[in-house]
Parts: sequence; C-alpha cells; structure tokens
Amino acid sequence: MRPAVPFLDTHAMEWVPGDMPGLFTKMLSADPETGARSALQCIDPARGYKAPALPHYHDGDEEIFIVKGELTFDGRQWLGERAYCFHPARTVHGFRSQVDSEAWFISRIKRPLKFDFHEDAESLEPYSLDGVESERGVAVVPTPAERPWEDILDAGGKTIARRQILSVHPGTGEGSMLVEFLPGFVSPHGDHYHSVYEEVFVVSGQLETADGKVFTKGCYSYKPPMYVQSAVSSENGAVAYVNFGGKLDFLPAASKPA
Ligand SMILES: [Fe+2]
Repeated sequence: MRPAVPFLDTHAMEWVPGDMPGLFTKMLSADPETGARSALQCIDPARGYKAPALPHYHDGDEEIFIVKGELTFDGRQWLGERAYCFHPARTVHGFRSQVDSEAWFISRIKRPLKFDFHEDAESLEPYSLDGVESERGVAVVPTPAERPWEDILDAGGKTIARRQILSVHPGTGEGSMLVEFLPGFVSPHGDHYHSVYEEVFVVSGQLETADGKVFTKGCYSYKPPMYVQSAVSSENGAVAYVNFGGKLDFLPAASKPA
C-alpha cells in the first residue's frame, strides 16, 4: 500500500534527473509494490528534452495535470496551467507531441510507465488500441476554470467551496477534481478520515490544518484510506488538484474503529 505523506513542500525538494535528457522529477508518493506513483515532473527542451516523435500508448492509465508552462499531444490543442488529461491504458495518444519551453506537470500512473510506440496511428484523436472504450474514458480538459463549477455548501446552505470533476470512474468513483476553497473556508467535518485515499496538491492560495500545517502553492499530501487527518481551513482561499479513490465520505475521527 502507498504510505501516507502528511505534508510535502515540493519547493524544498531537489529535482532528480530522469531516464531521458531534460526530464526531472520530484517524487510525491509511491507504492513500492505496484509501481503506482504521483510525481511532479519538469520537461525542458533547453536542457535536452525531446517530445516523443511518434504516437504512443502505455499499458496503464496516465493522468496529467499541468502546473506550469504548456504542452500539446496533438499539435493543435495546447494544455496550459491547470489543464488536465486522462489517457486510459492502451489509448493511443501523442500524435504530434510538442513542448517549446520548460513545463511542469503532475503525472499519476498506476504501474511503471512504459512507452509503446504506434507508428500507424489512425487519427489525431486519442483512441483505444483494442477498440474497447475504457469505463473511465479519455478526458482532455484544457481550461477547467471556464467550465461549470459545482457549489459545495455547508449545513446552513452557504457556499464554502466549489469543485469541478475532471475525470471519474463511473464504477469505482475513483477520480480527480479541481477544488476552490473560498476565503474563510472552515471544513464542517473537523478531524476526519475517508474510507478511500485522498491526494491534494495546492495550485494557488493556502490551506491550513488544525494541527498547524500550512499548505502553500506546491504543497502536497497523500492520505491512504482510513488515515485520520486534521480539520482543514483556508483564511484567504485556495485552489487544489485533488484525487480520490472513490466516493469521498467524511467520517469523524472519533468514530474510527480501533
Ligand atoms: Fe503518454
């Protein structure tokens, strides 16, 4: 199982050179048994990075959230800051990959990332190599902030946050979303845990927790299922990229079985 990462400030971490020129990684969390991991990655053409010249697919799901800069998989649609995409396993993509200057993104995979190239790509739209649509389908969200947001209300009906689902598995409920915590946000749930994992990367503003942690832009946490976490608040507001292992239930810390 992936161990908890209660708090990580990625600004304080060193970039680790990857297995190709111009690729650098800051590991966020990882499961040593399966090879699943979440990482902040930097690709930089000025330091030798070359986008894959051929369309490719992976044998596991690939999920990308852009933190800085921009890149394209098809040469037409550029994905800039806060853009998101989800390529299910064995989806051919990257028909005309291009990156012109340094770009950072969060890369989430469920097994070690292997590139299989597919020279005879049939289109510029991602498609399933096997002709079988994945239950959690391809998602490309270039501008999440321009899409409709769903209000999150407190018990009194006041909007305290907003969220936008980026991609979700219709069966398991596992997925990703962008969450905006409005200034003055105080979690109505207090100290709590979820029955599924929760992963949070702050993209702007600041979140505070009752146990004294301060999550500014670039701070990260991974909580495995049943992990008790402190109440969250945000005095001045924040936006976070949040991944969840299924329907996010909020269970009071005091109710957790021994
Ligand atoms: Fe890929």
